[in-house]
Amino acid sequence: MAKQEKIMVVDDEPSIRKYLQTLLEVDGFQVETQASGKEALARIGEGERPFLIILDVLMPEMDGLETLRQLMHMDRTLNVIMLSCSNEVTTVVEAIRLGALDYLTKPFEKPELDAALLKCRQKQQLRTENETLREHCETVTEDISFLASSPQMLKIRQQVLQIAPVDVPVFISGESGVGKEVIARMIHLRSLRRQQAFVKVNCAALPGELLESELFGYEQGAFTGAVRAKPGKFELANKGTIFLDEIAEMSTQLQAKLLHVLQDGQYSRLGARSVVNVDVRVLAATNVNVKDAMRTGRFREDLYYRLNVLSIHIPPLRERASEIPILFRHFLLKYSEKYQKFAPEPSRHLLDAAARYSWPGNLRELENFVKRYVILEDDEGSLRELIEMTSQQRVAPREEAPVAKEQSLKALVRGLKDEAEMEAIAEALDKTNWCRKDAARMLGISYKALLYKMRQFNLDSGRSSRSAAAKAAKQAAEKASAQEETPSVPAVRAR
Ligand SMILES: Nc1ncnc2c1ncn2[C@@H]1O[C@H](COP(=O)(O)OP(=O)(O)OP(=O)(O)O)[C@@H](O)[C@H]1O
Ligand SMILES: [Mg+2]
Repeated sequence: MAKQEKIMVVDDEPSIRKYLQTLLEVDGFQVETQASGKEALARIGEGERPFLIILDVLMPEMDGLETLRQLMHMDRTLNVIMLSCSNEVTTVVEAIRLGALDYLTKPFEKPELDAALLKCRQKQQLRTENETLREHCETVTEDISFLASSPQMLKIRQQVLQIAPVDVPVFISGESGVGKEVIARMIHLRSLRRQQAFVKVNCAALPGELLESELFGYEQGAFTGAVRAKPGKFELANKGTIFLDEIAEMSTQLQAKLLHVLQDGQYSRLGARSVVNVDVRVLAATNVNVKDAMRTGRFREDLYYRLNVLSIHIPPLRERASEIPILFRHFLLKYSEKYQKFAPEPSRHLLDAAARYSWPGNLRELENFVKRYVILEDDEGSLRELIEMTSQQRVAPREEAPVAKEQSLKALVRGLKDEAEMEAIAEALDKTNWCRKDAARMLGISYKALLYKMRQFNLDSGRSSRSAAAKAAKQAAEKASAQEETPSVPAVRAR
């Protein structure tokens, strides 16, 4: 027989203890009852770990909140549900802040108890999923996680493991926020230089001369303001790794100097006569298209070939969308730990919407989104935000996107949806006397989204009536059917 799950009921009132015990035992739980916070704490101190603790707020001696505080101090992963007498909002808020999962107001009915138990189960499931996730996640150091589950990223991980110990430069490319720095750090930490320094320089952060002195250092009096000699980043990275981030932003003069340093392994500090010998592995990254930058003369070809002995291109998140749920949960765990909060359980709708959005800011955008979600704990608000972001993305490309013949049913549905949308917008505009801010609020979309839509549907104040909208809708439908008949290239549409 499967082991019974244990629930600990902590209440000073014997009748409540009995009532809960009966209800829970009927459901097949093993129940342990305790009459005070002190006794409960003693049991947890002995190593007892029930699946759930149901804890009364009002108890003599040590009250429920204090007991909860001490329980959380002993083990933050305990599942606790509070029992409060009336709707004591401040107590409930405090209990949730301290780490309680939920609360029940006495007297409560069985369905309320069931709902609280379900919440506990979901929480436990999330915890197990997170543990599995951690097993997948290759932790390089305590604070670098590299998750990979798509074929492209698994291949990159393999490449990194192969490339890291080979002491040559690596060129890392990919859009903003895809994980270039994570890869650079992984390469260093997997290399023979891992005990030495990893020095990062953001080449876009400083103007030309300042960047030069940052990289190569200077002697006292080398220029006005150089009151003391300063070693450059290359010296600081000696025997280790230097990561030149956003390298395409470096001026072409400095690119020439860098090329010499890479060739000779030596250079002079600004204002110095002697040379400095350095042994540094260079990793460089950029989010611009280097081939284009070379064509326009912005990036030196000779430097590129010097740096690009090995290269890694990291695909954008939209090309590995299968990783979105796993990354979502990863960031969820990261920030709930950081902010000492229980990880909220994202709704299925929210996860689905996240998987549909194309994340132009890649992992960084997703990370910031999840961070907000953890802080605000507003599933509905986050979902609304995502839907809005997704619809804004769709609006722009759809105008030019010709529809392929075989997609006629889709086009029809879309046409109908557009028509309904246009009607609703025109109605809101009419009602608010064409005050677009009020109309946006009425429709529950952002002002910007409304402007997009108005442009898309060709709605302007000159045709301020619903009949105008109907006319526009008809025109749009005609336009759509005309496109149906035109053989065209496949539509490029934001997901
Ligand atoms: N494979 C991954 N697994 C887990 N987290 C990741 C992964 N790749 C990136 N991240 C996280 O995503 C965020 C962005 O990554 P990173 O800073 O490396 O991107 P980037 O390409 O250097 O961005 P930018 O071009 O904006 O400098 C970081 O917080 C990083 O920890
Ligand atoms: Mg970066």
